[in-house]
Amino acid sequence: MADLFSTYQLKDIELKNRIAIPPMCQYMAVDGLANDWHKVHYASLARGGSGLVIVEATAVSPEGRITPHCLGLWNDDQAAQLREVAAAIKASGAIPGIQIAHAGRKASANIPWEGDDHIPAENKEAWQPIAPSAIAFGGDLPRVPTEMTVAEIKRVQNDFVAAAQRAFDAGFEWLELHMAHGYLGQSFFSPHSNTRTDEYGGSYENRARFSKEVLTGVRKVWPESLPLTARFGVLEYDGKDEETLSESIQLVKEWKQLGLDMLSVSVGFTIPQTNIPWGPAFLAPIAQRVRNEANIAVSSAWGFGAPKLADQAIRHEELDLAMIGRAHLENPNWSYQAAKELGKESPAWVLPPPYAHWLSRYKSPTAD
Ligand SMILES: Cc1cc2nc3c(=O)[nH]c(=O)nc-3n(C[C@H](O)[C@H](O)[C@H](O)COP(=O)(O)O)c2cc1C
Repeated sequence: MADLFSTYQLKDIELKNRIAIPPMCQYMAVDGLANDWHKVHYASLARGGSGLVIVEATAVSPEGRITPHCLGLWNDDQAAQLREVAAAIKASGAIPGIQIAHAGRKASANIPWEGDDHIPAENKEAWQPIAPSAIAFGGDLPRVPTEMTVAEIKRVQNDFVAAAQRAFDAGFEWLELHMAHGYLGQSFFSPHSNTRTDEYGGSYENRARFSKEVLTGVRKVWPESLPLTARFGVLEYDGKDEETLSESIQLVKEWKQLGLDMLSVSVGFTIPQTNIPWGPAFLAPIAQRVRNEANIAVSSAWGFGAPKLADQAIRHEELDLAMIGRAHLENPNWSYQAAKELGKESPAWVLPPPYAHWLSRYKSPTAD
C-alpha cells in the first residue's frame, strides 16, 4: 500500500515521495520577470524534502496576470530567469514544475497586501481584463471585462502553447495548466461567467471547447515523456454541485483522451457567494470520486497540512499526490517534520545529503 513517503512515477518522472508544493503566487515580480526572491524562495521550499515544487501561476500574456507583480512567460527574458528557478529547484532535490495561467476577468488586481481588489481603471498600472463574456466577478473584483473575440481566443490559446514551449526550454519537467479558480479557463466552462452564443458558449460542448483546444495545442509541444496536468475547479458549492461535478468529470475524461496525465482537483471560485465547507481535507472525497470516475491520477490541496491527513489520503487512495501549501510557508522543512511525526525510521532521508547526513544523528537540545 502506498503512503505519503512512497515514490510516485508519472510518465518518465519519478517523485521521491507523494508530497507536492502547489503553486502559490508571490507577487514579487516586475515585468513578469523572476528575480532573486523567486530563486531563494523556490530553492528553500525544494530543499525541505517534497518530491515536486510547482512554481506559481505564471501568465501566458501581459493581460493574463492577476496583478502587476505576477510572473510571466510571454517572452524569452522571462524564460531565461525562470530557467534559473527551475535549476535551483532541481539542485535542491525536487522536480521543478510550473503552472501557466491566464487570469481572465480577475486580472488587473492589487497585490493581496495592498487590497486584493481591482486596481481603479484610472490608475496607470491598471489594464482592461478580457473574459468569455462581459460579466464582472463581483465583490472586490467589480470591473466588467471585455468579451473576447474569436481572434482573441485563438491568440490566448496560442499564448498558452508558446508558454508551454518556453517552460520546457527553461528546464521544467512538470506542467500544470491553470483551468481553476475563476480564471480564464474556468470561466469559459462555467455558465456563471460564460453566456456566449457562439461556438465557445452555451452547450457543454461549446463551454468545453476553449480548454480542450488549449490542451490539444500544448500537448503538441510538451514532450510525451513529461507529465502534463491541469488544475480545475470541479464544483462551485453554489447549490448545483451534482450537475457541475458530472459535467466536470465528463470534461476530465475528454482531457484524458487528449493527453492529460493528472488532475489537481480544486474549487471553481467563479462567483463570490458560495457555501464552501472549509475544513481539513474537505476535498478528499471529491478528489477520489474524480479519480475513480474519470480513471485519472489526482492531486488536491486545501487543508492537507497535517501529516496524518495527507498520509491517510494517499493510503485510502483518495489522492495520488498530496499538495501541501501554506504549511510549507510556515515550515519549508515540512516533509522532514512529517516523516518524523509519522514515525519513519530515518526521517532525515527526505532531505538532501548535506542535511540528511547530520540530522540523521542529531537530537534537538532540550532545556533540561
Ligand atoms: C499565497 C498563496 C498563493 C496562491 N497562489 C496560487 C496560484 O498561483 N495558483 C493556484 O492554483 N493556487 C494558488 N493558491 C492556492 C494554493 O495552491 C492552495 O490550493 C491553497 O493554499 C490551499 O492549500 P493549503 O491548505 O495546503 O495551503 C495560492 C495560495 C496561497 C496561500
